[in-house]
Amino acid sequence: MDSKIKSLVKKLTLEEKVSLCSGSDFWHTTAIDRLDIPAVMVCDGPSGLRKQNLEDENGGVNNSIKAVCFPAAVNLAASFDTDIVHFVGETIGDECQAENIAAILGPGNNIKRSPLCGRNFEYYSEDPYLSGKTAAAFINGVQSKGVGTSLKHFCANNQEFRRNSSDSRMDERTLREIYLKTFEIAVRESQPWTVMCSYNLVNGIQMSENKKILTDILRNEWGFTGLVMSDWGAVRDRIKGIAAGLDLEMPYSFGAYDELVVNAVKNGELAEEDLDRCVERVLEFVYKAIRSHDDDVVWDKDKHHLIARDIASECIVLLKNEERVLPIKNDEYVLFIGGFAKKPRFQGGGSSHINCGNVDSVLYAMQGNTKLVYEEGYSAEDDLYDAKKFDSAVQAARDVDKVVLFAGLPDSYESEGYDRQHMDLPKVQNDLIEAVAEVNPHVIVVLENGSPVTMPWVDKVEAIIETYLCGEGVGVATVNALYGKINPSGRLPETFPLRLEDNPAFIDFSGDSTNVDYREGIFVGYRYYTKKKIPVLFPFGHGLSYSNFTYGRMTMDTDSMKDDETLEVTVDVINESNIPGKEVVQLYVEPDIPNTKIRRAVRELKGFAKIYLEAHDKQTVSFILDKSAFAYYDTDLSDWYTEPGNYKIEICKNAEEVITYKTVSVIPKKPKKHVYDENSIYKDIMEDPAAAKIAKPYFDKYINNNFASDNFDESASEAFGSDMTVYLQDTTLRTVVNMSFGKITYKDMTDLIDKLNK
Ligand code: BGC
Repeated sequence: MDSKIKSLVKKLTLEEKVSLCSGSDFWHTTAIDRLDIPAVMVCDGPSGLRKQNLEDENGGVNNSIKAVCFPAAVNLAASFDTDIVHFVGETIGDECQAENIAAILGPGNNIKRSPLCGRNFEYYSEDPYLSGKTAAAFINGVQSKGVGTSLKHFCANNQEFRRNSSDSRMDERTLREIYLKTFEIAVRESQPWTVMCSYNLVNGIQMSENKKILTDILRNEWGFTGLVMSDWGAVRDRIKGIAAGLDLEMPYSFGAYDELVVNAVKNGELAEEDLDRCVERVLEFVYKAIRSHDDDVVWDKDKHHLIARDIASECIVLLKNEERVLPIKNDEYVLFIGGFAKKPRFQGGGSSHINCGNVDSVLYAMQGNTKLVYEEGYSAEDDLYDAKKFDSAVQAARDVDKVVLFAGLPDSYESEGYDRQHMDLPKVQNDLIEAVAEVNPHVIVVLENGSPVTMPWVDKVEAIIETYLCGEGVGVATVNALYGKINPSGRLPETFPLRLEDNPAFIDFSGDSTNVDYREGIFVGYRYYTKKKIPVLFPFGHGLSYSNFTYGRMTMDTDSMKDDETLEVTVDVINESNIPGKEVVQLYVEPDIPNTKIRRAVRELKGFAKIYLEAHDKQTVSFILDKSAFAYYDTDLSDWYTEPGNYKIEICKNAEEVITYKTVSVIPKKPKKHVYDENSIYKDIMEDPAAAKIAKPYFDKYINNNFASDNFDESASEAFGSDMTVYLQDTTLRTVVNMSFGKITYKDMTDLIDKLNK
């Protein structure tokens, strides 16, 4: 802690300190003129700047300055390219500098538990590794420009329904491995200047008062040193919040709680040191922002528009391409259908919404092309059937070489503030796709949506491109992908299930009243579909290319290791085609431990790399794996633990398709010490060699006494099946006392337990 800040805190009155721990308006921290402490401004994003137009006093929160809209978070994750994401961060960091913004309120890093969450487009993935790595890259990019970020919404804020009061209830392992993991990776790898605590409760405790998560885990375990701010209006009890480690309440709540906090300090309910600690962190943030501000940075919006286009190109996912219908050739007559061709859906609604000055539509990108016909077919705004438009589109489809149908979710279907009701596209769009596919065999569907949709027509069209919410460069990027000027290289950062009912959270999503039980546990997204072998529409990690990539030799630098060592894995990737392109190499780890008692996912993503390969080029990709590739969160130990055994290191096309693998045997540096008690069972004890040796005489006595003496009634054997040793397997230490006809005493048992636990 900066000693200047410490001495500054000493000069502040109690009231001033309390005021510093709250905003002064919607976007600023509080200034203390008496001591020349300035205020700094934060602003929304993070797919661009949503900076409130301060010139316009009547503008309200929705009036933001004109800005550039980059692809949404889901797109950035779909790029599977941390360099690209870092670059987006740098670009937005420059914009923040130019606008004198201390921190941008993002990235959103919550796990996509269900396709229905209204804010899924603002989040990266269903997988904590991909999500955490993408968030870290974004944060490092922004912060490299001397601007802060606010990693949000911390944590387990996976739905919009009752978002201020819902209680996300889950077991510790699920919390650690999935819902905290995504944040843990980001915090450890990028040290965001600020973290934003979420609205909801986690296991009964409001996040803005959750000391275990905000302080014990975030700061003490992960080493976070920045500021914790509340989501807008997320404070319930500011006194408890300050004690729990919530430094800054946002926005200004017009002093609603200030007096309460002052009184709490005066009457000893709140320790003044707790308040001082929060004030210090607020001041550190303010002065860090002031120190890092660079007046000379200018924001060239035209240049950034071109960057937005380039980034969009990196995120487009080619889901299907039969008969090589794509790319479209320049001499082919093509019909574009859909309101989205004219008015694209390229961003989501709510606090991330950017006031764009310049949006490329696909029709704009196709200007002057004499081989193009356009039919609206349906409106982009709603689900209304207009017979004239519909029929005219179907009619036009008969006379062209290929049809591109732009489909997607209207703005009103997904936004911050509410969840989707279903996973379907508007009916008129599904009907039109079917009708057009009846009259033309070469239909290409381009999707604009923030989260998975059902595709009842999937087998009737030849190609599908998922552009998600591609930002303001959407039109040019999409046309370039359609015509092969760019080679699609995105991969799905989430599973597209066949039906909403297949989603693991289907029954519990939204919850009854305020309680939302995460009963699917760690089996989120592909962890569930692969475990239950449930067929999906498109798996996590899926995405095609116009190139043809194959994989060659795979190597590992060892085939047995301790978990405090690292493993280097390499694999050769070859572009067998004439088309240069980018491949996403995905590495998953699959535990191969027969008879394990630990419920594990079939495989989990533990590495990915995006590489560019010229035609017929070859490259070797390498990955370094450490303990985090093998360990699960062990609730007995309250720590990560590697179960000894074999692990398959798999190079995959996607979460379901293994291309090649090798096996490594891993043992923990420190083997788990089992703790035994009166309910420990014979089987578990006998599987632990050290314990088996100690406990053998105890069990032998029991066996001899009960099964090999007069006490053993032959008919018992019949009653329990022929083999009494099977029955023995589940026998607890205390059962032995209870059932040994007084031959084995309670003291025998407690002596044994003492020896076992030594
Ligand atoms: C959202 C945050 C956002 C904040 C400020 C809240 O409603 O949940 O993501 O940063 O408002 O607009």
